[in-house]
Amino acid sequence: MCGIIGCAGRSEDTLDVLLSGLEGLEYRGYDSAGVALANGSLDVCKKQGEIARLQQAVGGLRGPVGIGHTRWSTHGPPTDANAHPHTDCTGDVAVVHNGIIENYEELKTELRERGHEFTSDTDSEVVPHLVEERLAEGASFEDAFRAAVARLEGSYALAAVTADSEAILATRHDSPLVVGVGDDAAYLASDVPAFLEYTDRVVYLEDGEFARLESGSWTVTDAEGRLLDKSISRVEWDAEETAKSGYDHYMLKEIHEQPRALRKALRGRVDEMTGSVDVESLAGLSPSSVQFVACGTSYHAALYGAQLLREEGVPAQAFLASEYATAPAPVDDDALVVGVTQSGETADTLSALREAHRRDVETLAMTNVVGSTATRECDRTLLIRAGPEIGVAATKTFSSQVVACNLLASTVARGEDAREVVGALRDLPGQVQELLDDSRAEQVADRFVDGAGYFFIGRGYHHPVALEGALKLKEITYKHAEGFPAGELKHGPLALVTDETPVFALATGDDEQATKTVGNVKEVEARDAPVVAVTDGVSDVGRYADEVLRVPETHPRVAPVLANVQLQLVAYHVANRLGRSIDKPRNLAKSVTVE
Ligand code: F6R
Repeated sequence: MCGIIGCAGRSEDTLDVLLSGLEGLEYRGYDSAGVALANGSLDVCKKQGEIARLQQAVGGLRGPVGIGHTRWSTHGPPTDANAHPHTDCTGDVAVVHNGIIENYEELKTELRERGHEFTSDTDSEVVPHLVEERLAEGASFEDAFRAAVARLEGSYALAAVTADSEAILATRHDSPLVVGVGDDAAYLASDVPAFLEYTDRVVYLEDGEFARLESGSWTVTDAEGRLLDKSISRVEWDAEETAKSGYDHYMLKEIHEQPRALRKALRGRVDEMTGSVDVESLAGLSPSSVQFVACGTSYHAALYGAQLLREEGVPAQAFLASEYATAPAPVDDDALVVGVTQSGETADTLSALREAHRRDVETLAMTNVVGSTATRECDRTLLIRAGPEIGVAATKTFSSQVVACNLLASTVARGEDAREVVGALRDLPGQVQELLDDSRAEQVADRFVDGAGYFFIGRGYHHPVALEGALKLKEITYKHAEGFPAGELKHGPLALVTDETPVFALATGDDEQATKTVGNVKEVEARDAPVVAVTDGVSDVGRYADEVLRVPETHPRVAPVLANVQLQLVAYHVANRLGRSIDKPRNLAKSVTVE
């Protein structure tokens, strides 16, 4: 939540760099935004609303050093006053913050008693005042910043500037921050896409480290001020991947990027001839049991993964990360805990992984983001290689997570020969493309855009997709939607089914599960509900449906990805008809760094 950008050393266009960086970070929060530029004095501009409002208001601020912020409110509503950067009483210190300062009330009271005045409801505003006090005592900017940070409890990524210093100071604890190394300038951001246009060389900060960015130079020190020898990594994403490239929305672009993302997820990792899977980071892995921890869409992938492993003879369960530590499930010595997290920064998932560490269990981060907190804290990493996902609604990363679950399952498999599955995975990108080229999702969306509510049902591997279909629809259309295991509908939710509630039924193949789902479809049809069958046409589910969304025939483990792509398209087109803010749905943020 919240995005931070900083830039030192580009005196002519610092403001442009900050504003375009904020656009690249808007997925992290978009209810207000602001910038501060230092140039002997400090110019601050901040506005409630999306970044476009800030752009209109900001005028021609200039300066060699600047910081910016896009906010997802935690303390206080989205107003101009609560937007970052926050300043001290003198107006000479500006700070941007991502995270939550837990002891802010105590600090605020203390600062008020010493005469400080606050202008916002935020927790973050205590920081510039703490810096101000030390500066007033004669400390250097760096010592003042370190002393202020030492007073904080909670999670934070912080960046600060002062009117007359040509440096940005930054630090982190449980919130991401990465330095970008340019030729003549240095950058700072919550996430790489914010400065990818200018440099692909990055330095990931660890908790407790401090960065100092100046014109063309950067240093990182530890909490005691000792210089650290940090290595520079090159990110593989390019700026084109973070642009809309002619699509109306990032979400639609990312749905269409799935064939490419899936090919990348498999590249160099599977051998179709032998059916063998060889993922370096999973070498030697042979867990006695597996626990998945994840949230939202990633949790749906985790549910799928757990089922897959159980089928391979490995005991496995999926947990909502936010509940994992509440009543910890027993775990054996050789267990593996897998954190499924696109961003690698989700606070609930990180907290569950830390719980696993406390219990001395081996951990694996299944993530899309190189260098993210999850990758740094887990024992192993399995990258899903989906490329940057900007739309708040996760799409291509779900598909890539499903593939990654298959790579994991094949590695630790105690069951059947993987050749067939590997063959199906290799065909998957082409089949997704086929489906994208010829989908009736838009017509289905048109027909059912006025639904009073929507239900999604599926059994087995289609159950997580039913949940995911409902989540996607509700988050971007703001319409009520629920997903259920198909057999569960009759145990209560059927009472809600009417002729105004379309039911999306997922049924591929003609196994027992598909046959039973057809039975459930008949039940809803008898209650006059419009039915949309998502099917490969093998079973006769289409006979009982008002609309059919076809998917190519494939292995039962792979079919859910195809079915899900149809549901992504339906959600997108319904939201588009309704004129929703598809890439930035209300109240949400992509990277949820608070618990
Ligand atoms: C929904 C969505 C969220 C995320 C969830 C976990 O479209 O994107 O439900 O899946 O917030 O995020 P990650 O995967 O980054 O841990």
